[in-house]
Amino acid sequence: TDTARSALDRLTAVVPDFPSPGILFRDLTPVFSDAVAFRAVVDALAEPFAGTFDAVAGVEARGFLLAAAVAYATGTGVVTVRKAGKLPRAVHRESYDLEYGQAALEIHQSDLPAGTRVLVLDDVLATGGTLAAACALLERAEATVVGCAVVLELGALGGRQLLAGRTVRALDIV
Ligand code: PRP
Ligand code: MG
Repeated sequence: TDTARSALDRLTAVVPDFPSPGILFRDLTPVFSDAVAFRAVVDALAEPFAGTFDAVAGVEARGFLLAAAVAYATGTGVVTVRKAGKLPRAVHRESYDLEYGQAALEIHQSDLPAGTRVLVLDDVLATGGTLAAACALLERAEATVVGCAVVLELGALGGRQLLAGRTVRALDIV
């Protein structure tokens, strides 16, 4: 985790005024493109939850990178939580709030046996709407959510309020 945190300090790109004026965007792509940093981040995400999950869920799009890597590293399966309209079979759908308007995420109703223990992964926890919707979808699909792990938490946005009662781990909080 120390290796991961120092890699984040060194490699995260802080971009002023993106995507709109006044927003300080934290871009993790240089972390993911560095071999040593990416491995450290993937291992640090999984480590606190070792042995507690049978599958990993990744949230489209950036969460997919992390979920697939954690699943491979831990010998577990991977489930996709997708933006609405992408999955071909019967789905559950949850809407969540964006800064302007709403979006929706979906999960297949039958990708996982009931009771499967799932770790939910995404890159960033901001307002929490995305992860809250992902957890709700997994539970509607009768999975057991053991926790959420993110690389970066934007603490000022208070996203943990929407995730009250859940185990949420962030490698770094800004
Ligand atoms: C970003 C980020 C998280 C989410 C966090 O995804 O990757 O998934 O926002 O925001 P929240 O906590 O306020 O819900 P985005 O929806 O921009 O899409 P992407 O992953 O497809 O780039
Ligand atoms: Mg995302």
